[in-house]
Amino acid sequence: QPLLKTVRYGKTLEYLSSCESTQIIAHQLAQQLVPDGTVVLSEEQTAGRGRMARKWDSAHGKGIWMSIILRPDIPLQRAPQFTLIAAVSVVRAIEEVTGLNPDIKWPNDILLNGKKCTGILTELQSDADGIQALIIGIGLNANQEMEDFSDEVKDIATSLKLKKGSPVSRQELVRSILYYLELYTAIYIDEGFAAIKLMWEGYSTTIGKPVRARMAKETLEGIAESITDEGVLQIRTPDGKLHGIYSADIEMKN
Ligand code: BTN
Repeated sequence: QPLLKTVRYGKTLEYLSSCESTQIIAHQLAQQLVPDGTVVLSEEQTAGRGRMARKWDSAHGKGIWMSIILRPDIPLQRAPQFTLIAAVSVVRAIEEVTGLNPDIKWPNDILLNGKKCTGILTELQSDADGIQALIIGIGLNANQEMEDFSDEVKDIATSLKLKKGSPVSRQELVRSILYYLELYTAIYIDEGFAAIKLMWEGYSTTIGKPVRARMAKETLEGIAESITDEGVLQIRTPDGKLHGIYSADIEMKN
């Protein structure tokens, strides 16, 4: 705690050695009026979850399994922007602490050499008054060896340690992630999404490329043209139409 570089984020911190999912705990805490920037951190998750009802490998002591409760005063439809703010914050932190240069695949995957080292899951508590809490779950593969990953993800996952060749400090990473998240959220609240979007686009491997977007009911192929100010991905299909994608799995086509 005394080592935090933030003003608010992480000052209220729930640190656990094991839990099912830090998202579940964060959802419970968010209903108890805990402050903006409350953090739940666990050494291990027994039922870590990813997007689209997938499991998230969360081996003990190897990664950063963290959920951050934010209470931004923004309209509901701007919530997806926070996934992008979080992605940019994590990339900056990884660069700063490890010297590695990850990139971002829309909306939330952080990749090293095309393999995923971090996933971000943004969940929402809202009512008629708008957003009550945004729960940003960050799963960062820090010090895993190949054998720490389950067979299903061995081909698509990596860790910072595997890429760098030496262990990385999870403490420094947490500190740095919270620092950038607080900073970029402040910039976003003061100046709007444009500055964040620019940074995000700089790190993105998706924009300008041919992609296949798998959604629940359909699959679209086209060029990933841009993201909107809401954080929605726009894909231009060969018939010239522009489609706004809110949630999908993106595959790069070569
Ligand atoms: C994804 O890429 O599908 C998102 C993965 C998010 C994983 C993190 S780990 C901390 C938090 N708790 C969870 O159960 N999930 C998120």
